[in-house]
Amino acid sequence: MIQVFNYIADLQSYLKAKRDSGLTVGLVPTMGALHEGHLSLMRRAKKENDIAVASVFVNPVQFNNPVDLEKYPRTPERDVALLESAGCDAVFMPSVEEMYPAKVEDHYDFGAIEHVMEGACRPGHFNGVAIVVRKLFEIVEPNRAYFGEKDFQQLAIISKLVKDYNINLEVVPCDIVREKDGLAMSSRNMRLNADERAIAPMIYKVLRETVAEYETMSPAEMKALALKKYSDIKQFDVEYVEIADETTLQSVSDWKDSEHARIFVALQLGPVRLIDNLRIY
Ligand code: PAJ
Repeated sequence: MIQVFNYIADLQSYLKAKRDSGLTVGLVPTMGALHEGHLSLMRRAKKENDIAVASVFVNPVQFNNPVDLEKYPRTPERDVALLESAGCDAVFMPSVEEMYPAKVEDHYDFGAIEHVMEGACRPGHFNGVAIVVRKLFEIVEPNRAYFGEKDFQQLAIISKLVKDYNINLEVVPCDIVREKDGLAMSSRNMRLNADERAIAPMIYKVLRETVAEYETMSPAEMKALALKKYSDIKQFDVEYVEIADETTLQSVSDWKDSEHARIFVALQLGPVRLIDNLRIY
């Protein structure tokens, strides 16, 4: 039976008993409105650890857009049922007051990786992510923590946070889970209307078609191709397309400068902003 905790102290005494009997703990941080992408992280956490813990917390300090925060979908009862079906042992669902009894003033500087793409478009976003994820790490003290490549830059930021502060856990990157038509699963997809939902798979289709041209094109040509394909779809309002190195997240201008390169996109579709990415090589 899954255990639901609303208070830090209760979760910590539950986890202390588990750790004292030598059990390992895996953590899957989420903001709820769960889908198969989140559940794939949970199944993996349960497979690789004795105890699998999820957090469900819509973290206000990582939203730079108040409307996005207000409209963020919340489905707590359904989330608990889905987590239980995926093998979750304990879920942490704190209130905002429990997580932030006082304002956290930390200002992280992750250097070049935070100044591009999502970091450039959503000022303060990664600072807010780092604040909450560090808190969650200190509360749960997991052996492993699971993050999706859907938010590839977030994964890079959290890996750097763990390294910079010597946090004793393993960050486990997990593959992107997609709908059958290729759309990357996202809690925000449920805010798309039928027409928007019908066109949304083009986000991934364009990435795939563009990546298929890798042998014949420079990074700049590929970026221009993707931008052209997206601009042909009138419902899409593209924020950026980037071709970046997987480690530094800096733009690649020559393939030979990058061991692994990836294409990234952010765009507005109707009321929601969606992101996706795909490895090129
Ligand atoms: P959220 O958007 O709920 O995502 C929670 C985790 O699920 C993240 O690691 C995200 O990358 C992963 N995820 C989301 N969609 C996925 C998909 N289609 N395939 C694979 N993994 C997917 O990311 C956050 O919450 C927050 O920023 C958080 C880390 C919880 C901090 O508040």
